[in-house]
Amino acid sequence: MKAAVLLEIKNLIKSFPGITALNNVDLEIREGEVHGVIGENGAGKSTLCNIITGIYQPTKGDIYWEGKKVTFKSPKEALNAGIRMVYQERNLVPSLTGAQNIYLGNEITKKGRIDEKEIMSRVRKLQASLGIDVKVDVPVSKLATAERQLIEIMRALSQKPKLLILDEPTSSIAEKDVQVLFQVIKKIKDEGTGVIFISHKMEEIFSITDRISIFRDGQKVYTGDSSELSEELVIKHMINRDLSQRYPTVIPHAKGKLLETVDLGDGRLLHDINITVKAGEVVGFYGLVGSGRTELAELLFGLTSKKKGAIKLNGEELETLSPSLAIKNGVLLTPEDRKEHGLFDFFDIKKNATIPYVKEKLGGFMGAIKAKEEKTLAQEIAEKLGLVYKNLKQSVTELSGGNKQKIVIGKWLVNENMKLIIMDEPTQGIDVGTKFEIYILIRDLAKMGVGVIFISSELPELLGVCDRLYVFKEGTVVTDLPREKFDREKVLRYAL
Ligand SMILES: Nc1ncnc2c1ncn2[C@@H]1O[C@H](COP(=O)(O)OP(=O)(O)OP(=O)(O)O)[C@@H](O)[C@H]1O
Ligand SMILES: [Mg+2]
Repeated sequence: MKAAVLLEIKNLIKSFPGITALNNVDLEIREGEVHGVIGENGAGKSTLCNIITGIYQPTKGDIYWEGKKVTFKSPKEALNAGIRMVYQERNLVPSLTGAQNIYLGNEITKKGRIDEKEIMSRVRKLQASLGIDVKVDVPVSKLATAERQLIEIMRALSQKPKLLILDEPTSSIAEKDVQVLFQVIKKIKDEGTGVIFISHKMEEIFSITDRISIFRDGQKVYTGDSSELSEELVIKHMINRDLSQRYPTVIPHAKGKLLETVDLGDGRLLHDINITVKAGEVVGFYGLVGSGRTELAELLFGLTSKKKGAIKLNGEELETLSPSLAIKNGVLLTPEDRKEHGLFDFFDIKKNATIPYVKEKLGGFMGAIKAKEEKTLAQEIAEKLGLVYKNLKQSVTELSGGNKQKIVIGKWLVNENMKLIIMDEPTQGIDVGTKFEIYILIRDLAKMGVGVIFISSELPELLGVCDRLYVFKEGTVVTDLPREKFDREKVLRYAL
């Protein structure tokens, strides 16, 4: 028996000034199905979901919810109908606790006051039923990106939705938590909830979805059963060409020792870290969230300070650390969380892309910037990563998630003084075609003699691109594997 149709979209068009984000889209979501949505950065996936949830209004087309024609004029109306969404851009209030965020806008009151005790007890029950283990009684600003993501998921599930939309829910969580999420999805699906699951991670799409819809340039080009599709076929529909290779050919370029740490520790999580990165070497950091990868990246970049041990660059010990010193030394970091550290919403694309060069290259701060040079530089960055945009004066808030990420990493890639670049989850939210371009860029940097630290929660890409891999666990390195010894199972065993 075919399951009942929950949501039906017919001839949907959404135009923004100068761009058709969705072009004549038909889509049907059934009860109890997990429906994967995949497509390149800027293909229209988030826009589609923002229309379903009433954030945007369609330019044309109809939406039927449980058989009735609807127009959700606000997120509240969609919410009342039973539609919940976990957004691609994080949406928690940093100063509130996890529990308060989960019930935000939906507070339980007792005698006109918010009943914190009752909220906490319901959140604990929710946690137990979902098997999600994360601190809910501290401000979410104190939590790691992955933990915040799990809180967003709990928020979406706090009132049992009929349709749950997950827009790249796993982009910042590691395999262990992905499994937790997948258990949750299976559970609610068995209870009849429909799920829209957007992801750039092919393996995940195939392991969790029943059907897949593929988007290209604002059009839905294919819908079919996941069991009848292959990764190759999905990629082909997505980018309209074959991508014969998912990873570049790795040719070793490692030369002399560039970075070395000796018994390094931060007095908190990190301890006894002894690593080296050679010039021209791509070194991967793998580990579960909370294992210390990002913390070490931040320490090496001078965002936090060391308590023990030493950091040496080209054999010289670095006594004091700070981001500006790091940049002076040619050490760069592309951060993990683009919303918090990567982009300035109030600047346009051009300004965001060229910020690191305002002082040395572009002469003067603000006002006095050499406009022509700035434009050329921004264009170079946009081209390097195939940015999908209208013009350089566009606000970054109008870009699709993946295209924002391209600016976050792209702006560092034209730095001439670069010796070591630390990339924390650089391919997060990036589509397969562009991921491949980034892998090529990483290998090209190595070829030019730059040392690269590549942090990722996606083990396959680390195995595909790196010369060497450090596996982290509980604040320290538990093993160091050269490329010849790369083995997925082995790495996972070390990490767990
Ligand atoms: N508010 C807006 N104003 C103008 N253009 C927009 C706006 N929101 C989205 N767009 C444009 O619509 C297109 C589709 O964007 P959308 O965010 O839906 O892509 P996506 O498929 O979710 O991509 P990604 O994988 O990068 O998240 C892009 O070209 C984007 O720049
Ligand atoms: Mg998106």
